[in-house]
Amino acid sequence: MSVTGGTWHPGPNLELPHYAPRDPMAHTPINEDDIIDQVKHGHGHSSLKVTPIHSPSTSRRGSGVITTPTGEKVTFHTRTAEERDGTLPHATAKSMADHLEKYTNLFTLSPQRMRMIVDAFEETLDKGLQEWEQVIPMFPTWVFGTPKGTESGDYLALDLGGTNLRVCLVSLLGGCKFEITQTKYRLTEEQKQEDGCKLFDFCAECIKEFIDTHLPNVTHDNPIVIGFTFSYPCLQERIDHGILIRWTKGFGAPNVEGHDVGEMFKESLKKFNVPAVMTALLNDTTGALIASQYVRPKTKIAVILGTGCNAAYSEDIKSIGKLKDKNLDPDDVVAINCEWGAFDSDFHQHLPRTKYDIHIDEHSNKPGEQAFEKMISGRYLGEIFRLVIMELVDEGAMFLGQNTYKLEAPYSLDTAFLSLMESDPTDELLTIIGIFNHFYGLETTLAERQFFRALARLIGRRAARLAACGIAAIVRKKGYLEEGCEVGADGSLYNKYPGFAQRIHQGLVDVLGAKGKNITTYHAEDGSGAGAAIIAAMTKARKDAGKYPNL
Ligand code: BGC
Repeated sequence: MSVTGGTWHPGPNLELPHYAPRDPMAHTPINEDDIIDQVKHGHGHSSLKVTPIHSPSTSRRGSGVITTPTGEKVTFHTRTAEERDGTLPHATAKSMADHLEKYTNLFTLSPQRMRMIVDAFEETLDKGLQEWEQVIPMFPTWVFGTPKGTESGDYLALDLGGTNLRVCLVSLLGGCKFEITQTKYRLTEEQKQEDGCKLFDFCAECIKEFIDTHLPNVTHDNPIVIGFTFSYPCLQERIDHGILIRWTKGFGAPNVEGHDVGEMFKESLKKFNVPAVMTALLNDTTGALIASQYVRPKTKIAVILGTGCNAAYSEDIKSIGKLKDKNLDPDDVVAINCEWGAFDSDFHQHLPRTKYDIHIDEHSNKPGEQAFEKMISGRYLGEIFRLVIMELVDEGAMFLGQNTYKLEAPYSLDTAFLSLMESDPTDELLTIIGIFNHFYGLETTLAERQFFRALARLIGRRAARLAACGIAAIVRKKGYLEEGCEVGADGSLYNKYPGFAQRIHQGLVDVLGAKGKNITTYHAEDGSGAGAAIIAAMTKARKDAGKYPNL
């Protein structure tokens, strides 16, 4: 695929992504990121398409045909709880309304509560700037200043994010424009968990394959520069270095935490004899900040709201107490990778965690970490929803007499399903029928489906409002409220979850008052691709100018 100036269009070198995450239950290849598009719009041949049947002669309601991802057509007929023929006990509209009230109380964040969170958040951000090893670590990224928009040249970007691996050739064209040609590789669960060296070897092999295919002129005498987007918390002593503090987003590859991932990646490049030099290691938020500033210089903050969540922003060196012995120019600015997903992980004093949030934390591969992220990011929202449903199943409130074993599997309910439920346009909620029927073999009533949609809304809205708290804390800390600022945002939740951006904006107004409207978010440029290249170019220019050569 190619991108020009941030707009996607199929390019001449169209490479189909090898990325095809599976639905663990249906054993059907599903691209998580595309579930929404595929189910909603029925794109492509591997979609779950729901077509209502309008048949006035039948008393049945909610009838339709589902086209499963394998192309199979399944006809279904359901009735509302009130109309059913008594074969399966189901929840009634009244009992569902009672349950909903309970969950509304649990998942709703009042403006007052949000303001308390923002106060604590702002204080925690500042602590991270003044001292090392704080709960929000506020890592200096050694990306100084802002891009000029004139940076140019060809660079490779390697993007190791939460779900897949991407290799991109980024051509910076100057004049705030760039083009990207990329190949995506699906990361398997095993790769996320097996020895770290293997993971970096895989990265090096993918890059070698990409160079062999696309870049015949790149040789050991003429190596290409790589910016490596590694989207996990890293303490960087200089720009091409980064000690992994902890894995997040379900990764657990041993022998990486506590090690310099820059060095590990360089070793793998050497091992596979790849004609490439990695000059910058960066976080996806830093990439999004710089790529967005490249095309929209007014951008002050970047957030990622996807499998994980985090923010970066430009900070004045003079405000960063922990850098005072570094002999940096106090008038410079440096991008800070906040790693805000860790907020409140130390004493759990500020976030209103529910028992579902606590369950997720305690059963995760990293208990006690990323408390804020676990309430917001796409990796967890579907699981929060599933835990609520399982609680109701255990209470006997729904699916009595049906086999719920598929729904019982942890993480079997993808956050993309919540997006779909929220955006189901039919009165009968046919998409929701399709999801439960096809993926979990469960029959639902209209009352239950309305409850599911309302529950998805509660969980999605809470996530967006918490994200707004984080943004508001940075805005207040930097004093951007009066003049306003633009926030570049990226990630599957922001881009695909219906109404996520509007909910953030509403949250900003709830916390900051009417002036919150001065803070606007927009879809960030491709930080992990273009941002990595721009940062590599900025780093080269800085070092060529002899500025901070050791950073
Ligand atoms: C990581 C961050 C990253 C974010 C978004 C979090 O889990 O700790 O480094 O920026 O996910 O990808």
